[in-house]
Amino acid sequence: MKPVKVGICGFGTVGGGTFNVLTQNAEQIARRSGREIIIEQVGARRDNPACDTSNTNVTRDIFDVARNPDVDVVVELIGGYDVAKELVLEAIKNGKHVVTANKALIAVHGDEIFAAADKAGVTVGYEAGVAGGIPAIKAVREGLAANNIERVAGIINGTGNFILTEMRDKGRDFADVLKEAQELGYAEADPTFDVEGIDAAHKLTILSSIAYGIPLQFDNCFTEGISKITRDDVEYAEELGYRIKHLGISARSEKGIDLRVHPTLIPETNMVAKVDGVMNAVAVKGDAVNDTLFCGPGAGAGPTASAVVADIIDIAREIKVAPLSYNTLDDVKVLEIEEVETSYYLRMQAQDKAGVLANVASILSNKGINIEAIIQKEPAEGETLVPVIMLTHKVQEKIMNQAIAEIEASGDINGSVTRIRVEHLN
Ligand code: HSE
Repeated sequence: MKPVKVGICGFGTVGGGTFNVLTQNAEQIARRSGREIIIEQVGARRDNPACDTSNTNVTRDIFDVARNPDVDVVVELIGGYDVAKELVLEAIKNGKHVVTANKALIAVHGDEIFAAADKAGVTVGYEAGVAGGIPAIKAVREGLAANNIERVAGIINGTGNFILTEMRDKGRDFADVLKEAQELGYAEADPTFDVEGIDAAHKLTILSSIAYGIPLQFDNCFTEGISKITRDDVEYAEELGYRIKHLGISARSEKGIDLRVHPTLIPETNMVAKVDGVMNAVAVKGDAVNDTLFCGPGAGAGPTASAVVADIIDIAREIKVAPLSYNTLDDVKVLEIEEVETSYYLRMQAQDKAGVLANVASILSNKGINIEAIIQKEPAEGETLVPVIMLTHKVQEKIMNQAIAEIEASGDINGSVTRIRVEHLN
């Protein structure tokens, strides 16, 4: 069989990792693919000191790779939306298969790219875009294909999980941990994508599209970041038997699909709560299989390259799979965040006087909100404000917003109420 010739565009952390995995594991990969996989060309503005390219054709123009008649598979690892889209469409136009780790590209322009690929009869692989080294897309699309998927929930940003873990375990500073995540090659070029949940929203959009057969709807994904989480919240959550994780959650109900990324309290006994550092966890609930959990490193050169190379091997074996089930979609509505029901963690600085707690409780009970647990701390020396922390039972977000607005207007508390959503994942 003729070898498959690969052109790698982008030679940073993931590009370098892919080059090295393809080179170092060439023999094993050839056995699994049934043919040799050769790096025909690398397109990059800079060399990667971790890679020996002395025997490789390197061009400074990535579009050379997309047009190179000897390249069968273009591997897009430059990131970003615009140039990446142009590159991928150019490669498809030239009859190349494409493998990408670019979740932003797929979440936002995927439908257009898949349509072009369908027309050209080529495959677009994007396993590396979701949850790094975990074969999450394969698991949902192939391994769980027999199921109606009921929920997908998980930690799908390694940088965010690394930051929350280091802050909790070592009391480290947010900015300092973020800098380390950047040095380790975990963070996006713009790290606000990690911290504000945009990266996780890209990934959740892709996974949900596959899980429920709906179009890619990044704009309908509710997104809240971790930058406002304080050490106090982390400690109170622990006192209540929970951990704070930055989760992507989508679930299907009769009303529609909720699609949301936000900091979430989950019971410390839940397996997802124990997934720390750069590790990701994707929990999928199917009607036949019930609960499954896939866990592994969510970022970094090796894990992401592992997923990129697996897609290249699939293409080499000519396993063609429909890129997304969007063409057999159900017309299911994505719910507005106000329509979603969850439990809540609330923290407020209350006035230290009689009746305050009763007033807050009565605002909640008038709205039918059931309190599950309360912690009230003694005021610090010389302080007139006491921290009050509550866990509630499930309630619709719209009702909780009304209750929070009333509590904030009551004069019983100082400042605003901190609210973190709680999921029991059961
Ligand atoms: N910045 C991403 C993360 C890289 O931290 O998870 C992998 O997609």
